[in-house]
Amino acid sequence: MPLDEYRQANLENWNDRAGIHAESRMYDLAGYVANPGRLSATVEFDRSKLGDVRGKSLLHLQCHIGTDTISWSRLGASVTGVDFSDKAISIARKLGIDTDASARFEVAELYETPKVISEQFDVVYTGVGALCWLPDIAEWANVVSRMLKPGGTFYVRDFHPMLLAMDTDRNDDQLVVTYPYSGEQAFRFDSATTYTDGPALKHRISYEWNHGIADTVTSLLDNGLQIVALSEYPFAASQIMNCMVKQADEQWHLPQGDSLMPLMFSIKATKPA
Ligand SMILES: C[S@@+](CC[C@H](N)C(=O)[O-])C[C@H]1O[C@@H](n2cnc3c(N)ncnc32)[C@H](O)[C@@H]1O
Repeated sequence: MPLDEYRQANLENWNDRAGIHAESRMYDLAGYVANPGRLSATVEFDRSKLGDVRGKSLLHLQCHIGTDTISWSRLGASVTGVDFSDKAISIARKLGIDTDASARFEVAELYETPKVISEQFDVVYTGVGALCWLPDIAEWANVVSRMLKPGGTFYVRDFHPMLLAMDTDRNDDQLVVTYPYSGEQAFRFDSATTYTDGPALKHRISYEWNHGIADTVTSLLDNGLQIVALSEYPFAASQIMNCMVKQADEQWHLPQGDSLMPLMFSIKATKPA
């Protein structure tokens, strides 16, 4: 099925980013090859919250260039990563080979995942910059539910919709709500840079959507999942606003302190057996 113009623009933008990220200091792919015990910071954070994945089949939605997927494989899961970026998937496949990981990677637009991957999984995992690229959160939750085995576990940790509603271009520490907290409206961004070091993007235009916590939780409930845990965090995994400062925990906090607003959230849910 051809992508709509929003997702076609995002695909070109993400194919550019994948190549840049693979060469970046931030993703440090060589580090995973050199150190067989290396886990991504994302998986280091999420592993205690998701729980033991040893011996479980795990589907990673929007897996990007595979660093988190390979990390779950190193913790004993049998992993499949999917992403709509063919460039990201070819980099992830190479990383899988270079690290001797037993990992499968497939190109799939999020909403097409059930057509590309026929089996169901013990664990479905996603996050850290995933949901904002999806126009329809209810349909996303339907895909999550369809890909989970009965009795399986879903886990997402992502940027909080309140943070994504903020003006992120400011150079002061004012917190200015600029984008709607939730809804179907797409936001157009024009940026020559990605979030890592590296050269400028050729395809600068991207579109994002914001999904409020209630919409995300309700979509999961409507698709038969039971919420086991919902957490909010006063820090983020990357510097979304220029005023954010990295603290000793290696997370990005607001300079005003931790009580002002949440910057990330996580949800753990199960599909009844
Ligand atoms: C920020 S990355 C996910 C980050 C991941 N946590 C990491 O750092 O490796 C977002 C991913 O979503 C993918 N993506 C965006 N829109 C998508 C869509 N409609 N279907 C499938 N993948 C999509 C992009 O290709 C990209 O790899």
